[in-house]
Amino acid sequence: LKDYRQSSHRIAHCELVFDIFEDKTVVTNTMQVIARDDQQMTLTLDGEALVLNSLQCDDDELSAEAYRQGESQLEIFNLPVKCTLRIVTTIDPDNNTELEGLYRSGDIYCTQNEPEGFRRITYFLDRPDNMTVFTTKVIADKQNLPILLSNGNLVEKGELEEGRHYTLWHDPFAKPSYLFALVAGDLAVVSDSYTTIHGQQVALNIYVDKGDESKCAHAMRSLKAAMRWDEAQYGRAYDLEIYNIVAVASFNMGAMENKGLNIFNAHYVLADETSATDQDYLGIESVIAHEYFHNWTGNRITCRDWFQLTLKEGLTVFRDQCFSADMNSSVVQRINDVKALHERQFVEDAGPTAHPIKPDHYIEINNFYTATVYEKGAEVIRMLYLLLGAERFRAGMDRYFETFDAQAVRTEDFLWALRQECDLNLDQFERWYTQERTPTLQVRERYDMIEQEYRVHLTQLIPDTVNHTKQNSYLFPLRFALLDHKGMEMNYAMQSSSENKVKKGMLIVSRMDETFIFKNITEQPRLSINRAFSAPVKLDFKQADYPFLMRYDSDGFNRYEAAQSLAKETMKKMMLNKDEYDHYIAAFGSVLEDEKIDLKFKAQLLELPSVAILMQEQEVVDVESIIDIHSRLTKMLAQKYQDQMFEVYAQLHDADNSRIDAESMGKRALKNRLLRFLATLENEWVAEICSRQYYESVTMTDRIAALDLLENHAPQRAEAALRDFYQTYQEDSLVMNKYFSVLAASQRAGTIDRVQALQNDPAYDVKVPNLVRSLIGVFARNVKHFHARSGHGYAFIADKVLELDAINPQIASGLAGAFKSYSRLNNHNKNLLKKELERILKYESLSKNVYEIVEKIRYENV
Ligand code: TRP
Ligand code: ZN
Repeated sequence: LKDYRQSSHRIAHCELVFDIFEDKTVVTNTMQVIARDDQQMTLTLDGEALVLNSLQCDDDELSAEAYRQGESQLEIFNLPVKCTLRIVTTIDPDNNTELEGLYRSGDIYCTQNEPEGFRRITYFLDRPDNMTVFTTKVIADKQNLPILLSNGNLVEKGELEEGRHYTLWHDPFAKPSYLFALVAGDLAVVSDSYTTIHGQQVALNIYVDKGDESKCAHAMRSLKAAMRWDEAQYGRAYDLEIYNIVAVASFNMGAMENKGLNIFNAHYVLADETSATDQDYLGIESVIAHEYFHNWTGNRITCRDWFQLTLKEGLTVFRDQCFSADMNSSVVQRINDVKALHERQFVEDAGPTAHPIKPDHYIEINNFYTATVYEKGAEVIRMLYLLLGAERFRAGMDRYFETFDAQAVRTEDFLWALRQECDLNLDQFERWYTQERTPTLQVRERYDMIEQEYRVHLTQLIPDTVNHTKQNSYLFPLRFALLDHKGMEMNYAMQSSSENKVKKGMLIVSRMDETFIFKNITEQPRLSINRAFSAPVKLDFKQADYPFLMRYDSDGFNRYEAAQSLAKETMKKMMLNKDEYDHYIAAFGSVLEDEKIDLKFKAQLLELPSVAILMQEQEVVDVESIIDIHSRLTKMLAQKYQDQMFEVYAQLHDADNSRIDAESMGKRALKNRLLRFLATLENEWVAEICSRQYYESVTMTDRIAALDLLENHAPQRAEAALRDFYQTYQEDSLVMNKYFSVLAASQRAGTIDRVQALQNDPAYDVKVPNLVRSLIGVFARNVKHFHARSGHGYAFIADKVLELDAINPQIASGLAGAFKSYSRLNNHNKNLLKKELERILKYESLSKNVYEIVEKIRYENV
């Protein structure tokens, strides 16, 4: 970051011609290059895996001395201040397994250029601060590739000789190369239209494989809802005549916001009741919205350099989380978002790959599309939203859009815009951008009945960086309430010195240590703190009354947190052979019986903290005891409440209901949660219920839940159900992902052997990232089998990291993240894993992607 320099030149216009043939694609790039100052005569362009056919400057072929072609760069000497360069290169999309640049997914040609894929298409200034107006001509065989798409508006199309045809696209918005996109294929299209608040008509098209047309309705509905929402909430409307979305099978991530031509992992587009779960539906709604929102936060205003990634990603995740909260239940949404943060980002922040949301160095930028940059980044925006309040925040956003439209900017520019619209000093707040690791907030309370005074003492415990540097205290909003014995929010007065640091129900915390004093407090309050998770901190609040808060907190999120905390405490005690579980079991029962609670929310309240979350609590990870205690407590709850659980299950289960409204989804969530408890009883009648649910229910939500329970708790019945599932869905790759995941997550003995064998299944393909994630990725998160004392789990995943690295380094390095717990393992496991990490690092042609991750893990100095 410190070394950032402006480029010597900029590329104002770029005309691209793609000539797509069966065995190669020829790219002709004609660009207008302008030196930023007239001293600059050498231009250095990025380029990788390109065959250079010809190079002209202002129509003259350049001689061999006029340029130098390196591994990843092309230097051109003695250029005039302004010139037109024409570069012709040949690329090989059919053998592009990295899925960056132009590649083939099935029979579809498509691109993925963020962050540095465009340099695999042509020589270019492949950096986000170079903004260019693109015109693109795509030429291909008409029969095989009837649909030819690129960014912007369609200008022209026509027929050519030898059965070929072309389309010509112009995108009037200057953009960095990472937002360039192209698609060619034999696709079906589902169309609709949208009229913006300014009255502009927009054609909406979703392109999918033929036969999948019936699975686009939810994506289309979500897109229109997102367009409406951005107009209403941020006053931002869409700006082109066309909005195209293409679904492809092979994709490294979820989706990509290319201007006017989003490309999606099919998983985030296609859905119908019989093939998608309720979770899948919510995922589609949120990813469709995320990519749409990028049009303003990411495309119109983009990043100066890749260190600024959170500028667009944290902000856009914040926006899509708010959208989903408005479309569904905001409490349920908040719980899910924080749970994801807790399970993924907290782990990252506590481990060897911890980094600030705005990192200041990297080896491979692809390794920084992380939970930290995205999800913690969104929490940082949420804190700003809370500190400023809705109105000031909106004014700040308006200022941001007005000031920086059509520019490539930094996170500092974003904060500058917010500062213009509020009277807060955000200097200290900026540490959230530059410091790493999750802070802990220690809370100590004291109530003085005689003085009617209640004191809350807060201490920030700020961990050192990965490299042992000290860090400073944060400024953050801390939402809270004081509850009386009935759970009602109490009134209070503040001692004057605290006053300016308290807004309605919110403290502004900024010192390492501080005390807040509340007056006129007539009874010992129950403190409900960090409501709705207003700040991304861990709480250390030993005096908290969790059983009370779990039943009565009027903040739904905190009720959930109390339930989680109480369950965690209970299990920790059980691990020390202290069987003090009565409080939790009783509180669980009262939630189960509380008929006033929303069903989906109740399903969340009744969920035990995951094994992944429990692992974070241990200094030396002892996997076996966590799994053992987790299943003991689950069984105890099932035994104690089996009658009530069964009764609720029977009441809510409706095999024929395939609706995806909130009520139907809530019913399925709760009864499947209860069925999960019941299944642990492992008796005949529960196995029979699971079996019936598997065969009789129409929704994938119900069927996959039942299949998973049969696999784990009723092996005699599982075999037939698995066979039935396989036969029904073997042609549907998206559904087969679920099949592989159930088997890879299985707790049964022999799971690793089955996973290894499944790699030869005709439905599996190591070149399709979704399948790799479903089988290999899920196995690497199967705590029991991955950490098996034999070491087979580690050796297997290490083999896969190396195998995948030669195919797709981005997927390989994602998988290598599974080794992050290395330094916290017991000695036995640690030694086994050490061998594997060193084996990986010794590998000769290791990608920088995998190197950067594994090196950090192996040499974390704790
Ligand atoms: N910008 C994309 C998003 O957040 C994510 C992205 C980055 C991506 N690199 C990618 C997607 C590579 C697919 C492949 O929506
Ligand atoms: Zn994004």
